[in-house]
Amino acid sequence: MDYKKKIAEKIAQLVDINENELREYIEIPPNKDMGDYSFPCFRLAKVMKKSPQVIAEELKSQIKLDDIIEKTDVAGGYLNFFINKTSFVENTLKEIAKKENDYGKSEIGKGQTIVIDYSAPNIAKPFHVGHLRSTVIGGALYKIYQYLGYHVIGINHLGDWGMGVCKTIAGYEMWKEEYDFSISPINAIAKIYARFNKEEKENPSITDKARNALQRLEAGDEETVKLWKWIISISIESYNKIYDLIGCKFDSYNGEAFYNDKMDRVIKILEDKNLLVESEGAKVVMMPDNMPPCIIITSAGTTIYATRDLAALLYRIDNYHFDKALYVVGGEQSLHFKQVFKTLELMGYEKYAKNCVHIPFGLILNENGEKIGSRKGTPITLEEIFNEAIEKSLQIIEEKNSELENKEEVAKKVGVGAIIFNDLANNRIKDEIFDWKQILNFAGETGPYMQYTYVRTQSILRNANCEIDSNVDYSKLLDDEAIDVVKKLKEFPNIIIASADKNEPSLISRYLIDLAQSFSRFYNEHHIICEDKNTQNARLMLTKAVGITIKNGLNILGIETPEKM
Ligand code: ARG
Repeated sequence: MDYKKKIAEKIAQLVDINENELREYIEIPPNKDMGDYSFPCFRLAKVMKKSPQVIAEELKSQIKLDDIIEKTDVAGGYLNFFINKTSFVENTLKEIAKKENDYGKSEIGKGQTIVIDYSAPNIAKPFHVGHLRSTVIGGALYKIYQYLGYHVIGINHLGDWGMGVCKTIAGYEMWKEEYDFSISPINAIAKIYARFNKEEKENPSITDKARNALQRLEAGDEETVKLWKWIISISIESYNKIYDLIGCKFDSYNGEAFYNDKMDRVIKILEDKNLLVESEGAKVVMMPDNMPPCIIITSAGTTIYATRDLAALLYRIDNYHFDKALYVVGGEQSLHFKQVFKTLELMGYEKYAKNCVHIPFGLILNENGEKIGSRKGTPITLEEIFNEAIEKSLQIIEEKNSELENKEEVAKKVGVGAIIFNDLANNRIKDEIFDWKQILNFAGETGPYMQYTYVRTQSILRNANCEIDSNVDYSKLLDDEAIDVVKKLKEFPNIIIASADKNEPSLISRYLIDLAQSFSRFYNEHHIICEDKNTQNARLMLTKAVGITIKNGLNILGIETPEKM
């Protein structure tokens, strides 16, 4: 039931303004004694040349009440609406029970394609904490848009080309005998990369070996290409472990290398449009508003990160005809994306350029506010972080509920969920604080707390030891706490839409915390399992709806819900 729409319909019959516009005016009053919805008459005052108060009085006398809107009241220039609470509770809970896993879904994105560029680690470097946020935020956005009916294309624009990967190739060629590739090839490769960087500082001449590897790779030398492909494949294999854990999905792994033969077209268009200018030996596109120029060809004659991103954009335009393209990449690349989108516009793709959006996010800091990423000099890999979270969760479960079946499986859901939730808990642009004590605090505003709330709803339903009777007396849910929970439940679909609007998954995580806290208040004030079977039945219905909504919300964020913990 869309109450705002319902109210707008009633007003539209009385004034000469269209229903959709009227709907936009409707507000939620600051306090519930004033009603459930409020229609401000100030804007009508201008058109109707009457005072807002008089208009409100006139509307009040003409509006027909029914079993949905049961009362209206004038307060100043506002007309307040009181809805019938029983029908409100009934409509909301019935809808949730009926839609279940689909509650919150909509079709507003139908027919629109959205490309999400996210994760994009750099091959040969281990998948370290710097790529956690892009992966988690991008993964959540992927699911949010899918939930809203968009056709979503997830792209992992792997950093699989250039000096980084060639350092690994050169290092491998020099030192492969010294490493064991049988257990974890990616770890051995990562060690080689780290060693190359270290030795390079003392002995800069080895950089030439990496340069030489790049030349061979560019020339298509068979052995080098084979080695390069092998490094990519073991890297992706190791990334997939993380992607599986957090349930994120890619429709394309076309990385930087994929565009090797697609950059000429970019250069040609730029030349044809006279946009390329020489600057200190490089070829650049000048930018407006004092923005530094966008470098297309370096003074060494090679293409660059931006050139590839432009080629990728042309490719994505041709192949996906996207309505929107999101780039979930850290804030330090803001200038890069401004330059790339501006260049695309200058190339004649204004329509597409204005639908490209950079989605930046803050850093990950430890509890002392220091940038995390390395410990004793070796970078922390994502795998290590997730493993630690799972281990710690297992310890907590051992302490609290050692009898639990499938402890390992539950610990996995809890540990992974805790990391994801922490990453999505605040506005993405804020720095994330990574503090184990906080992340795994079952009583804090955390993933485990949300999972625990879900588990509680399920155990209540189990303990009731009976099916919910479909003949529910919804008038048993009119106490303040129950109404508050139902109001929150009703908001869920709008929250998902808002989180897509702002590309802000944290709207969902904060909403879920709110919902869980409301449910806790309800649970603390009222006995769900109780003497009066009608009351119990209605309360179980509410509990079930809370469980469904939490589960759907957590799943959108990439967090699984154990049934017991
Ligand atoms: N691999 C890059 C990095 O780690 C991120 C790539 C983002 N996507 C893009 N199309 N530029 O910094």
